[in-house]
Amino acid sequence: MQNPYETDRLVADYLFFHYIPHAEGSEGLPLPVEAWDFASRLVSELMDQSHPARRALDLGCAVGRSSFELSRTVPDVLGIDFSRAFIDAAETMRTHRSIDASVPAEGQRQRAFTAHLPEGIDTTRTRFQTGDAMDLPADIGAFDVVLAANLVCRLPEPDRLLKRLPDLVAPGGQLLLATPFSWLEDFTPRANWIGGTPDSAPSFDILADRLAPHFTLEHTTNLPFLIREHSRKYQYGISLGSRWRRR
Ligand SMILES: C[S@@+](CC[C@H](N)C(=O)[O-])C[C@H]1O[C@@H](n2cnc3c(N)ncnc32)[C@H](O)[C@@H]1O
Repeated sequence: MQNPYETDRLVADYLFFHYIPHAEGSEGLPLPVEAWDFASRLVSELMDQSHPARRALDLGCAVGRSSFELSRTVPDVLGIDFSRAFIDAAETMRTHRSIDASVPAEGQRQRAFTAHLPEGIDTTRTRFQTGDAMDLPADIGAFDVVLAANLVCRLPEPDRLLKRLPDLVAPGGQLLLATPFSWLEDFTPRANWIGGTPDSAPSFDILADRLAPHFTLEHTTNLPFLIREHSRKYQYGISLGSRWRRR
């Protein structure tokens, strides 16, 4: 099966998801505004901006919106994604500040749109590269902020990322996680799920146990989001957002 995140369809869906404002994207339909702008709310609702941060890492950055939002306050941001097509789109947003694309409207009819980088982004502060969140370069160093949004339940071996996190987050730094815990065998073999089986504890409790030796939980919040299928059909999800401080 082709990696879905490499398809033109998914690139366009994520450009729409990350960059199109509610007033434009909802087309006058009563779509819930609180579930819009997920990629920017991740940063505004999870990150503690009172601590100055020098380096940030956005793992599974897709087409880059959260990386750019991190760069508003962090001068050196690295966005990493496994998908070459997503990283190419993020890089085009960085260099051209816009991309033309289209998403399904109804049936085979498409809706054209232009994704624009929001105002106030200094694109020299962000870099993008392909990479595997489960197998990051040994010399990548430590970051003051690490964001992993809707990534954990898309990894074949999420524990490999969890084990790396204590080294990735600098002492005193913040780990920002968001996940709807949508365990699916298409992405993660059942044996590697963190919870989600009939006799397991809730996923967040298991995650918290694994992070507890190195991190202190500071904040949790529900982060709703909408995944578009076509103009009149969306999937409503709610990620559990959490902020952890590296001791
Ligand atoms: C559900 S999307 C979430 C994207 C983005 N963080 C957001 O919240 O909109 C999952 C992302 O993780 C990426 N991904 C999947 N496996 C990965 C891996 N092993 N390493 C890095 N990125 C990965 C996918 O390409 C995709 O961009």
